[in-house]
Amino acid sequence: MVVKSRAHDCRTIVNCYSFFDKVFPACGLLDYTEGIYHGDPSTPYDVAQLNQIKYVLDEVKCTRGSRIVEIGCGNGTLLAEAQARGASALGITIVPDQVEFCRRRGLDARLIDYRDLDDPWFGQFDSVIANGPIEHFVQPEDAVADQTEAIYRRMFELFHRLIDPASPIRRAISTTIHFVRTPDPRNLLRSPWRLRWFSDDFHWSFLHRSFGGWYPVPGQFERCAAGLFELIHTTDGTHDYHLTSEEWLQRCQRAFLSSKFWPIARDSLPFVMRHPVQATHMLLCMLWSQSWNWQFRTQSPPTRLLRQTWAWLD
Ligand SMILES: C[S@@+](CC[C@H](N)C(=O)[O-])C[C@H]1O[C@@H](n2cnc3c(N)ncnc32)[C@H](O)[C@@H]1O
Repeated sequence: MVVKSRAHDCRTIVNCYSFFDKVFPACGLLDYTEGIYHGDPSTPYDVAQLNQIKYVLDEVKCTRGSRIVEIGCGNGTLLAEAQARGASALGITIVPDQVEFCRRRGLDARLIDYRDLDDPWFGQFDSVIANGPIEHFVQPEDAVADQTEAIYRRMFELFHRLIDPASPIRRAISTTIHFVRTPDPRNLLRSPWRLRWFSDDFHWSFLHRSFGGWYPVPGQFERCAAGLFELIHTTDGTHDYHLTSEEWLQRCQRAFLSSKFWPIARDSLPFVMRHPVQATHMLLCMLWSQSWNWQFRTQSPPTRLLRQTWAWLD
C-alpha cells in the first residue's frame, strides 16, 4: 500500500497556490473556480465570476446577519461579497499568502486545515461553503488504499457539526470537479513521462503533480452525506469551467508574451528556485500539455463540475 503523510499532501497544494498567487494576479485573475456564463460565452470574465459567487451565496440564503464559513477561501472574493451583503463571513485556507491577502482586503481569513476544525467551531454557522477545495481533500494514495468514501464521509460529518442546529438556514454548498472517465489511481502516481503522451493518464498524472488531488465520482457525495445532508439542488457547470479555463489560459499566455513577463518572473523566481520540479510541472501542465484545460474540452470531457446544495438533516 502507498501511504504518504498529510504534510506531503499539503506541501504540493500550498506550493501550487503560492506559485499561482504570484502569476494569477499579474494576469488580472484572483479566483480559482469557474464563473457562470448562462450559456453566453461573450459574458465578460469578471461578470461570470461574480455570477458564480452570487449563485453560491444565494443557494445558502446569505443575507444580512448570516454566519458563513468558507472552507478553502482562496483570495477571498466570495468572503468580500458575503461581507457586502452584511453577512459575517469567515474563511479558512492552508495557504499563508492567501490569509495575508484576505486580511489586507479587510476579510476574516484563518490559516487552518479543515481537518483541524474542532469544538470552538462547531454549531457556529448558518451555512458552510466549499467552493472548489474538495478536489484537494483526497489524494491518489488514498484512492489506492480505498479511503475516498471514508474521507468524504468525515468531511460531511464535519460540515454537519459546523452548522448551528438552531439556525433557520442550515445549508451547505459544494462546487466540485468529478471524474467522468475515472483513472486507475496508481497511474497518477507514475511520472507523466512514463505514460503515453497526451493520454488520459498522462494528463491526470501532470495534474496531480501540479495541484495535488483526486476527484470524486458523480453520486459519491450523496452516498457519503446520507443521513447528514439531503441533496436539494444540483447544477452542471462543466461548460462554465471550460470557458473560465480558456480565459485563464489566454490571459496567462498574453501576460507571458508581454512586458508583464518580467515582473512575474521576478516574483516567482524564489518559488521556482525552491521547488523547480513542481514549478516546471505546473508551467508545462498549464501552457504546454494544457492538461488543466483538457479536463473540460470536447463534447464529452473527462470531468464534470457539479454545484450541489445540501440541506442539513436532524
Ligand atoms: C481551487 S481553490 C478555491 C479557492 C476559492 N474558493 C476560489 O473560488 O477562488 C482551493 C482552496 O482550498 C484550499 N484548501 C485546500 N486544501 C485545504 C484544506 N485541507 N483545508 C483548508 N483549505 C484547503 C486552498 O488553500 C485554496 O484556498
